[in-house]
Amino acid sequence: MRLDIVTIFPEYLEPLNVSLVGKARARGRLDVRVHDLRQWTHDRHNTVDDTPYGGGPGMVMKPEPWGEALDAVIASGDPGGDGDGPVIVVPTPSGSPFTQETAVELAAEPWLVFTPARYEGIDRRVVEEYGERFRVRELSIGDYVLAGGEAPVLVMVEAVARLLPGVLGNAESHRDDSFAPGAMADLLEGPVYTKPPVWRGRDIPEVLLSGHHGRIARWRRDQAFRRTARYRPDLLERCDPAALDAEDRKLLAELGWAERPDGRFGPTAQDVEE
Ligand code: ADE
Repeated sequence: MRLDIVTIFPEYLEPLNVSLVGKARARGRLDVRVHDLRQWTHDRHNTVDDTPYGGGPGMVMKPEPWGEALDAVIASGDPGGDGDGPVIVVPTPSGSPFTQETAVELAAEPWLVFTPARYEGIDRRVVEEYGERFRVRELSIGDYVLAGGEAPVLVMVEAVARLLPGVLGNAESHRDDSFAPGAMADLLEGPVYTKPPVWRGRDIPEVLLSGHHGRIARWRRDQAFRRTARYRPDLLERCDPAALDAEDRKLLAELGWAERPDGRFGPTAQDVEE
């Protein structure tokens, strides 16, 4: 997979040389190219921003450097070999949510171009222009505003890279991830333990030493339900009741959850604090 990142802070992307993504690059699984947007400016001050039309605070990134940068990057290759060009990923708090599902979709692409912006964002005409010829995804990593799109790029690249074949040491290790598509899709992952068996007087749950795979799987599922009910009740309310077995239902009842008239599960009335 090829990734191009155009930014005014190339050094911000240094972490892409480290750990999982760094190793994937070294092994040739990822071809990451970081470009300095200012190389596509032509004035003495390498200006990339200007005041907003219509007034208001802050500065807006000028369209010309972005246009030249994207033209140059796009003209420099076709790793998919299909002439489709890259998917252009525009990090913005005004985008659609970047989720595990988005990461899975992006991981299937041969080429992504990221355009992290500073200031109040990029002149709108850039998205319009490239949106006519390419697939543009405007994506937000959460409901908070960062000073720029570089940290979101690091987040998205890591989420995508770990899904690529041969990048994670153990191909199974994202199977049970919270948010991974599959049987546990709507549940958060429960707690994990390693050696020693006793640490500061604290034992690990017996069942994990039992060697009984069925019981261990059941315990893990229960823990996932407990954690999800506590931290992300919204996920549990969305889950399909058809995916729940008798044990799940029993546990949910214990946690004060019941099936509502609309067929979804939710906390029962007596549990809702006045
Ligand atoms: N740029 C600033 N805040 C952001 C966010 N939450 N997601 C994506 N890009 C951003």
